Amino acid sequence: MNNQKEIVYKEVLKDLQPDRILAIIFEYMSKVSMENDLDKLLMILADLGKKLVVADRCSVWLHEPSEQTIWTVAAHGIEKIIISQESGFVGHSITTGKVVVVEDAYLDERFNQEIDIESGYRTCSVLCIPFHNSSGAVIGTFQAINKMTAQGIFNEKDSEMLGLAATYAGKSLESAILLNEIIETQKEMLETLGEIGESRSQETGNHVKRVALYSYLLAKLSGISEEKALLLKHASPMHDIGKVATPDSILLKPGKLTSDEFEIMKQHAVIGYNIFKNSQRDLLRTAAIIAYEHHEKWDGTGYPNGLNGEEIHIFGRITAIADVFDALGSHRVYKQAWKMEQIVAYMTEQQGKHFDPILVQLFLDNLALFIAIRDQHSDVG
Ligand code: C2E
Ligand code: SIN
Ligand code: SIN
Ligand code: SIN
Ligand code: FE
Ligand code: FE
Repeated sequence: MNNQKEIVYKEVLKDLQPDRILAIIFEYMSKVSMENDLDKLLMILADLGKKLVVADRCSVWLHEPSEQTIWTVAAHGIEKIIISQESGFVGHSITTGKVVVVEDAYLDERFNQEIDIESGYRTCSVLCIPFHNSSGAVIGTFQAINKMTAQGIFNEKDSEMLGLAATYAGKSLESAILLNEIIETQKEMLETLGEIGESRSQETGNHVKRVALYSYLLAKLSGISEEKALLLKHASPMHDIGKVATPDSILLKPGKLTSDEFEIMKQHAVIGYNIFKNSQRDLLRTAAIIAYEHHEKWDGTGYPNGLNGEEIHIFGRITAIADVFDALGSHRVYKQAWKMEQIVAYMTEQQGKHFDPILVQLFLDNLALFIAIRDQHSDVG
């Protein structure tokens, strides 16, 4: 069987000339060294690999030893692809630390056809070059698929070039992996801490999850970038963390608070802010803003600073809507859950008073989406 014929070449390409290789390496090395985001770095490296060896496709796979898996991102924002560490040429390359060169994937027993079957793509020639960290351990592999020159197979020069790129990129990749772990750890800590804050006031862990999801949705509806919306989503579970410092006698009081008690209650916004305000990390700085400003009101009657309108950070204005919508619909020691009609009437009535008029309008226009989140993450069951 001649697999070459099954690949439709747009044009017959040639291997790169040395000056072109150099230009590409210069162009990409600065991109690589400036990128901290792991997913984006994987995309950049894949693009670099694809150009260097004139492949139709290239992906960068990383090893997750604790899970015994390897994963990659196909396009930014698209879900990770996760496969077993034993799987396919990439698995072989990562677990053995060896270069894999294959002329026809379908004649090789290591080939995992699943990805082809799912994508309708036809893999023929393959080149896998492992990445190492600074201690020499294999952390991942470059995988180039389908050489686009007339020869149609990857050669010694391709291995060398991709190997060199892997050597240079390994360091950036290693530090991005470390940073990614730190950020993932921060996110987990924030969620856990948020749940602790809520459990003290006998609110459920689902409250912080719902507030996170409502905030993210409203941020997206308002046109905020994916990156900022995710930052908000991950930080908003912390809005009430300052309640850990509120005395039980106030927090768990079955009835209405006296004005002195409410003054103490209000401190939770400042306490939450103080916990995070000195952090250098975006995620924790965002948590500080949200804790500080989630009880400010559009008309200036909120606390702790009585900020007005757009003086209130958009994250604070969004979290206020998410938090109140959720609090009204939930049972509290001091109140019963409200019915949806009452909640909607209140949210509408507070347009331009408590809430940013534009944001609350977006919320009301898309109410069904918010109710769907509530139903999927309800406290009962
Ligand atoms: P929370 O229970 O999570 O409520 C968050 C916000 O939702 C409240 O902020 C308020 O804007 C809104 N909200 C909740 N329930 C009601 C309600 O029945 N009516 C109206 N109009 N709005 C409501 P707020 O008022 O600044 O309160 C902050 C936190 O203080 C509350 O968080 C809760 O932990 C505590 N709290 C407030 N009022 C009382 C109370 O009368 N008794 C007790 N034990 N705690 C209270
Ligand atoms: C592999 O066999 O290495 C994975 C399958 C593919 O990417 O085509
Ligand atoms: C996650 O979705 O990655 C963590 C949960 C959250 O903070 O929303
Ligand atoms: C994030 O991307 O979720 C946070 C970024 C940071 O903490 O620097
Ligand atoms: Fe609060
Ligand atoms: Fe809350």
